[in-house]
Amino acid sequence: MCGIVGYIGKKNSKCLLMEGLKRLEYRGYDSSGIAMLNDGHIICCKAVGKISNLESKLQNADFDSNIGIAHTRWATHGEPNEVNAHPHTDSKNQVAVVHNGIIENYAELKKDLQKKGCVFKSATDSEVLAHLIAMFIDEGCGLEEAVRRTMEQIEGTYGMAVICVKYPNKMVAARNGSPLIVGLGDDEFIVASDASAVVEHTRQIIYLNDHELITLNSQDYIIKTIQDIHVHKSVDNIDWDLGKIEKAGYPHFMLKEIFEQPESIHNAMRGRFDDEECTAHLGGLQKVKDRLRKTKRIIISACGTSWHSALIGEYLFEDLAQIPTEVEYASEFRYRNPIIYEDDTVLLITQSGETADTLAALREAKRKGALTLAICNVVGSTIARESDAGVYLHAGPEIGVASTKAFTSQLTVLSLAALMLGRMHNMSPVQGERIITALRNLPFQIEQIFKADKIIKEIAERFTYAQNFLYLGRGYNFPAALEGALKLKEISYIHAEGYPAAEMKHGPIALINESMPVVFIATQDAIYDKVISNIEEVKARKGYVIAIATEGDEKISQKADKVIYIPDTLPFLVPILSVIPLQLLAYYIAILKGCNVDQPRNLAKSVTVE
Ligand code: G6P
Repeated sequence: MCGIVGYIGKKNSKCLLMEGLKRLEYRGYDSSGIAMLNDGHIICCKAVGKISNLESKLQNADFDSNIGIAHTRWATHGEPNEVNAHPHTDSKNQVAVVHNGIIENYAELKKDLQKKGCVFKSATDSEVLAHLIAMFIDEGCGLEEAVRRTMEQIEGTYGMAVICVKYPNKMVAARNGSPLIVGLGDDEFIVASDASAVVEHTRQIIYLNDHELITLNSQDYIIKTIQDIHVHKSVDNIDWDLGKIEKAGYPHFMLKEIFEQPESIHNAMRGRFDDEECTAHLGGLQKVKDRLRKTKRIIISACGTSWHSALIGEYLFEDLAQIPTEVEYASEFRYRNPIIYEDDTVLLITQSGETADTLAALREAKRKGALTLAICNVVGSTIARESDAGVYLHAGPEIGVASTKAFTSQLTVLSLAALMLGRMHNMSPVQGERIITALRNLPFQIEQIFKADKIIKEIAERFTYAQNFLYLGRGYNFPAALEGALKLKEISYIHAEGYPAAEMKHGPIALINESMPVVFIATQDAIYDKVISNIEEVKARKGYVIAIATEGDEKISQKADKVIYIPDTLPFLVPILSVIPLQLLAYYIAILKGCNVDQPRNLAKSVTVE
C-alpha cells in the first residue's frame, strides 16, 4: 500500500527511481511523483494514474540528480489527484517527504502548524511530515534530529524518506509499522518499501525495525532508535533474482503466477518430508516443537485470500490433528479483546508479511502470551521477523495483485503442518505415507489441469458480461468457492458470491434464473451426493451450472451444463487443485472485458494501513 523509493549515491538517479517505482507499482497505482535535490533546490514532478504517466511527463524534462525520492500512491486521505500525490514539501520548499502509512493525529498537528504560519497544499495526512521536519530544521536541528523529533510527535504508521535543500548529501528514512528496507551498493544506497525495487542493483539489504531511523550519505549510514540510541544491524542477503519479478514472456504477472504453481508447490514441499517417520519436517518450527505439541487450541488469523487459506487450515488441523481450531479476520481479532490463553497457538497467514491488521493481530497474541507462528512468503518481512517461529512458502515474489500461487502454497504448507501435528498425536504412519504420496503428486496434477484451458476459455467467453456469479462448495471446497468468487470480483468487477452449497437455500437461491452462472465445486468425496442435490435445486430454477468435478465422473456431465475435470486426490488437498480452473476463469473473463488484471482498480497488493 503505497511504495516508496529513495536513492543517494554517485549516479544520476532518475531512471533508477523510475524503475524502482515500476517494481513497486503493485503496491498502489492511483498517482505517483518524484523529487530531487538539484542545485540547491527541490525539483518535483507528479502525475495522476499509472507510473507511465509520470514517465511521459519526465521524458523531455531536464530533471536528474544523484539524490532523490519517489512514491507510488494508494490513496487513504485525499482523493487521487496531483496535489495529493507525493512527494510533499513544506511551505518554503526546503524539505520533501515520501510517506507510506497513516498519520492518525495529523488533524491536530495540521491545526497547530497552520497557526504557526504553515501553508498546506494537499488534503493528505502526509504533508504534516514535511512541515514538521522543516519547522524543527528552522529551530536549528540537523536533518536527522528533525526527523527524530517529528517521529516523537506523530501517531500512526509510517515508512518515510526525507531530503532537504540544506543537506544536499543526506537522506533520512524512518519506519514505524510500514515496511522499509535499505539496499547497500557501492557508494550508493537505495531506500525502498520492499526488495523488488532494489534487487537489480544490490542483494545486500538491511531491514529497519519500528521506531528506527537511518541517516545516509553516499558512503556511509547510521541507524538510531527514536530514543537516539545507536543500533547495529546485520546485513541480509536476498536470495532471488530479477527473473523472478519479470513476466518471462507471459502477458501478465497473474497468468505467469498461475502457471508457476506446479513449481511453487514443489518448492513449498522441498526438503520437508521425513519418509522414514511418515511425517513432515518443518525446520522453522523445530525450536517450538515442544510448545506446539502441548498446544490446546490453534487460532488462525489473516486477511483476504490468506483468510480463505486459514479456513482450510481450520478444517485440516481439526481433521488430521484433532486440535480445536478457530479462524479470525485479523481486522476483527485485533479490536475485539479476544480470549487467548498461554497454551494457545496463534497462527498468522500472510503472503506479504506486512498486512497491517495481521501484524496487529500477531502483536496482540504475543502480548497475551500465546505461541505465535507465521506462514509467510516474503522473507525478512515484519510478521516473519516478529513471530516466535514460522514457515516460509518459498513461492518467489508474487506481483499480481490478485493472489494465486501464494494461496496454493499456503494450503500446501498448512497440509504439511497438519500432517506433522497429526503424526505428533494419533495419525497412523500409513495415513502419513498416503498424505505424502498425494502431496508429491500435486505439481503433476496441476500440469494436467492446465490442459483444460480450452473449456475454461469457452466458459469465459459465454459469461464475459455476466452481472453476477455464484460459487458453491461444501467441506474443504467451501473456502475454495469463496476464493473463486474473490478472484472474479477482484479482477473482472463482476459481483460474485461464495457460499456453502447447502446454505444457498437460505437466500442466494432467490437470485437464480437462466442468466445466473453457478459454479459448483462438486468433487467426489463423502458429501458428493448432497452437492448433486444442490445442483438439482439450481437446475430446477434454470440456473446455468458449471461444475468442477473429479476426472472420470460421468454422472455429473448429465446434471451440469459445463464440466471442468480435475484429477482425484485426498479430499483435504482438493482445494489446491479446484482453485486452479477458478483462477483461470477469473483471468480469462477479466482479459475479455479489457480489465487490468495485474493492477485492478482500488486494490493494492500489500495493505499496510488498517
Ligand atoms: C490484499 C491483497 C490480497 C491479499 C490480502 C492479504 O487485499 O490484494 O491478495 O490476500 O491483501 O495479504 P497478505 O499479504 O497478508 O496475504
